[in-house]
Amino acid sequence: MAPERAVATVDLGAIERNCARLPKPLCAVVKADGYGHGAAEVAEAALRGSAERLAVAAADEATALRAHGIEAPILVMGALTPAELASAIDADAEVVAWTEEVAQAAPRVHVKLDTGMGRLGTKDRDLALRLAARPNVVGLMTHFATADEPGDELFGAQLAAFSEFVEAVGRDDAVAHAANSAAALRDPASHFDFVRCGVAVYGMDPFGEDPAAHQLEPALSLSSWVGAVRRFAAGDSAGYGRRWTAPEPTWVATIPIGYGDGWRRALTNNCDVLIRGQRLPLVGTVSMDNVTVALGPDTDIAVGDEAVLVGAQGEERILAEEVAHRLDTINYEITCALTPRVRREYLR
Ligand SMILES: Cc1ncc(COP(=O)(O)O)c(C=O)c1O
Repeated sequence: MAPERAVATVDLGAIERNCARLPKPLCAVVKADGYGHGAAEVAEAALRGSAERLAVAAADEATALRAHGIEAPILVMGALTPAELASAIDADAEVVAWTEEVAQAAPRVHVKLDTGMGRLGTKDRDLALRLAARPNVVGLMTHFATADEPGDELFGAQLAAFSEFVEAVGRDDAVAHAANSAAALRDPASHFDFVRCGVAVYGMDPFGEDPAAHQLEPALSLSSWVGAVRRFAAGDSAGYGRRWTAPEPTWVATIPIGYGDGWRRALTNNCDVLIRGQRLPLVGTVSMDNVTVALGPDTDIAVGDEAVLVGAQGEERILAEEVAHRLDTINYEITCALTPRVRREYLR
């Protein structure tokens, strides 16, 4: 592979296979530019992998999918300003409502009951029942707060509350949906008329473990290249603030990727990079455009070698889940953080 500053390679075959393995019917969630993978490309792959619908958070995301010629049903799930609501309607998208105003304004509406997420939707069951009786209502939905925490009591309570609501509405002409990836993988009772999966579509594990446990294939890998290799004497430091000093004479590689690309500064002295199939420690402060990697007292690593920050090389592999654990966050944030400076390349 020719050296390149920072490239996220997205395996669209993996997206397709992940979708094919997830419960059906499937709505693929492609908000936030497809969790950083590229919304239109992911949407097309997901539809090939037998997803029947798409969901996004913002009206502009629906508009962008339509501009790519995507004709599948799109649900815009977020709170919308009047201007955004108009854009969503122009994009022939369905929208989520929990107020009379929005329920009246859009031609096709999904009523959202807040059963415990405490974010969007109404907690007022009577209002939800009134809204759900409108003829333009095509869906009923809720969202789980703790589906990724097996054993948590709220999940069962939310599921019971939503099931009871769907029953009380009693409409065969409206679809009911609740399950995110974690719920879809963990409890068939949460599937209703379709599952709304995001993170699993990308081959990341909603429980933060190895995606292979649910036969999911990570679609994204992130690579850069060795831009410089220099000899450090014992006591020489790398990067801002001298947060790493060579304990002995050692080689250090500079990789031209940094927090300006979404490789977070909190990874300072706190992750590994793969070069020539070796797992090597990132040392020193992550700067905006560069990181440094300790290569040891002897090395055959040379300028131009590929450096893998997420993905496999030789026998070694770094998962987004591993990077997330280092940062005390979730895998979603690792891929969403990648900035436009990282070129997306698609394997078809
Ligand atoms: C309302 C809603 N449904 C479904 C999803 C997909 O969730 P996940 O990526 O965990 O599958 C999200 C994403 O956060 C969401 O906000």
